[in-house]
Amino acid sequence: MDIKALLRGHPAWLAHLESLGGFDLAFPGDLPLELLRLAVPHEDVNAVIAARPEPGSPQWWLAERCAHSLVSTMGSLDEPPPFRPLPELGPYFYVWVYLAVLPHSRRYHRERGIPEEVSWATFADLGRNMAVHRKRHGAGGLHEPRWFMLHARGLLYDLGRLQFARDRLSPSTGAALRAAGLPVGPGDPALGVHIPDFHGPLTPEACDASFERAREFFPRHFPEEEHHVMTCASWLLDDQIARYLPAGSNIVAFQRRFHLLDRIDDGDMLSFVFGGDATDLAELPRRTRLERAIADHLAAGGTWYGRIGWLPF
Ligand SMILES: CC(C)(COP(=O)(O)OP(=O)(O)OC[C@H]1O[C@@H](n2cnc3c(N)ncnc32)[C@H](O)[C@@H]1OP(=O)(O)O)[C@@H](O)C(=O)NCCC(=O)NCCS
Repeated sequence: MDIKALLRGHPAWLAHLESLGGFDLAFPGDLPLELLRLAVPHEDVNAVIAARPEPGSPQWWLAERCAHSLVSTMGSLDEPPPFRPLPELGPYFYVWVYLAVLPHSRRYHRERGIPEEVSWATFADLGRNMAVHRKRHGAGGLHEPRWFMLHARGLLYDLGRLQFARDRLSPSTGAALRAAGLPVGPGDPALGVHIPDFHGPLTPEACDASFERAREFFPRHFPEEEHHVMTCASWLLDDQIARYLPAGSNIVAFQRRFHLLDRIDDGDMLSFVFGGDATDLAELPRRTRLERAIADHLAAGGTWYGRIGWLPF
């Protein structure tokens, strides 16, 4: 495999990787134990182990530089170029990159005083996103390999029902919040709110507990960073959903917490809801109220959107 030819379609990423040089790749000794701690689904464990990159191989070259990219930007709000899902690398390539970086991520967590249980709950999202991959594609792999960069670089934390990621306000969200009278603007720190799959219902009580934890966690572990707002960009914030679901719906209650800003694309709504079953829009399953709502709305010529929302920190 000619890695550099493969990456030529992503010149900024290639230039970044080439600027970094090598990295001392070391993998955990007891792999099955480590994979289980990361909640890697049992049916993926053997295939992950078999996909170990060989020293000297093109994958090794790339894995060294991907690991170096994560470690050299540990904790930083300035993002390195994102990992690309390249099928040529095999379904588990990035799992190995993250296995090599995990000791560095854990060291960073320890330096920041992050409790062990928060670290492991956070890192278990690696396995969760392998389950998400299977739900969507019916095969092993890691969904959106760039997503776990946030965890590995010490930006995202699992605090119960919700995850919170240290981030910067985008130009448009920062400008909208400033216009709304908040003491923030583009590029200022903010917390992104994320809603993991495979974590039970989104009850208001569980969300209250997570928001409360976040308000205590970030000032304690990142005291130098001042947060005024939390933002969320999700299909769950499309307020058209409230026309279809009952007032007691968890999704509707979640939406009501936020001040809503711009519409964005649908945030992958169909994949989050139907997984791999969303191939034929005329034949969407109608097992739950939300599924029926989505299908009815589309059948009536409607469009679903994602939405950006914010709430005070
Ligand atoms: C977020 C989530 C937990 C909300 O589920 P919930 O707490 O059950 O939400 P509600 O109480 O509002 O559910 C109302 C109805 O919609 C259904 N529903 C909710 N989310 C659903 C989903 N993802 N797929 C199918 N049906 C869903 C519920 O089953 C219920 O229908 P019913 O009364 O016929 O059983 C759920 O959508 C989920 O797990 N999503 C995946 C993660 C995700 O999308 N994250 C956002 C990333 S941007």
